[in-house]
Amino acid sequence: MAAGESRTRDLHSREESVVASARGHFERTLVQVRGAVVGSVAAMEHPSSGEAANYGEVFLRDNVPVMFHLLLEGRFAIVRHFLAVCLELQSRSDQTRGIFPTSFVEQGEDLIADYGQRSIGRISSVDASLWWPVLCWLYVRRSGDRAFALDTAVQEGVQRLLDLVLHPSFEGTPVLFVPDCAFMIDRPMDVWGAPLEVEVLLFGSLRSCCHLMDLAQWDRPCGLRQKRLERSHRWLRDLRAYLLKNYWVTSKTVQVLRRRPTEQYGDDQHVNAFNVQAQVVPAWLQAWLEDRGGYLIGNMRTGRPDFRFYSLGNALACLFGLITAPQQRALFRLVLRNRQDLIAEMPLRICHPPLDAEEWKEKTGSDPKNWTWCYHNGGHWPSLLWYLGSAVLLHERRHPGSDSALMEQMRQLLEDCYALQLTQLPRQRWAEYFDGPTGTWVGQQARTYQTWTLVGFLLLHHLLRIEPKDVELFAIDPLLPPPGGRTVL
Ligand code: GLC
Repeated sequence: MAAGESRTRDLHSREESVVASARGHFERTLVQVRGAVVGSVAAMEHPSSGEAANYGEVFLRDNVPVMFHLLLEGRFAIVRHFLAVCLELQSRSDQTRGIFPTSFVEQGEDLIADYGQRSIGRISSVDASLWWPVLCWLYVRRSGDRAFALDTAVQEGVQRLLDLVLHPSFEGTPVLFVPDCAFMIDRPMDVWGAPLEVEVLLFGSLRSCCHLMDLAQWDRPCGLRQKRLERSHRWLRDLRAYLLKNYWVTSKTVQVLRRRPTEQYGDDQHVNAFNVQAQVVPAWLQAWLEDRGGYLIGNMRTGRPDFRFYSLGNALACLFGLITAPQQRALFRLVLRNRQDLIAEMPLRICHPPLDAEEWKEKTGSDPKNWTWCYHNGGHWPSLLWYLGSAVLLHERRHPGSDSALMEQMRQLLEDCYALQLTQLPRQRWAEYFDGPTGTWVGQQARTYQTWTLVGFLLLHHLLRIEPKDVELFAIDPLLPPPGGRTVL
């Protein structure tokens, strides 16, 4: 046998054994509620095991990739049970009506949910609430379980969530205003206001609610629901226009931005609605964007946009179809160009650049976990890679042949990232996150056998090696609108 051939065979069998052991670890993360498997705990092992840490709970956001994995495996009953338990836990109380819990755990006979009242900093997770309709819709579409979507409890849950998010506000904008720490970044990082990830999730969530309401509308038309549908569609249109106008940057838009007038009063056409001064445009942006790169910035607030790059929000903007196909390709160019920052030794950095020592003190309240280059502050999270991978693979399927040189490079980048994880993650016991400017060091307080690290790897493996077309599962809108432009299950 030729040497090359035997090397390939070795690689192949190593890959198979890593995948098999990841599957084994993943199965151990599954827990039951009321006698049936409901989903996964956040991590199997952590430094503070035995203390009151909450990594042994079932987190909604950590279970997003878990549910996708289970859907791909056809284990629909678990996903349905998860959705039903979350729905049962959706808050009905006066001040939080409509929100879904960050996490839950069964203790004896009781199901205990955390809406923020038990977590460090006492912050509730807005992303968890927004993910629920997305998961629900993707479950209904993949499993064909229309009856679940039509269930009164599900439709009422959707209404409660819509009542919570689609209401008048002091800002009068289509975005959701949230406190610091309201999503995956759940420790202070100066991400209050309208952070990208939350707004993109709002977009995906509203689209999913519309699909779920559409199904009920065909089944039992109702005037009130029709009004809610129309309202949601208007909100969606305004939200998308708002994000594309105020968050999307390229080298061209930055030139315009730097020369815009400031201090504009009145109703007339204003080009600088947020009164952003040229001085706030950071110096690193020029080299980062280069000529043909683009991305959605992290946040827009009066006078203080957040130009940091957030990987998850940008990847989701592709998957949910919020940004256009040419914009997606500009984003891919940006990732390629800044590979050393975003990928380095462990894909993917959560946000870039990190806050420096001074900013860290002021903006995080000296949070030791979020020290420069650590954790949420420029740390590398392997669980984020499959989101970018899916965005690239979905783009390839939906726009075959467009800029094939670029897409070829992106495909190679994914292969390289996958190979990196294949070698590193088992050695580092499937750690939660990695620190340092190149993401080489296992995070100081990283949990090991972290569920979304394991399952994120399995998802990418599935898409690259087993069934690429399954990436369609993650797209909220189906590939071809059927006659009449409506989704048919
Ligand atoms: C950390 C992460 C959060 C995650 C939780 C459980 O708090 O910041 O996003 O949900 O751990 O894994």
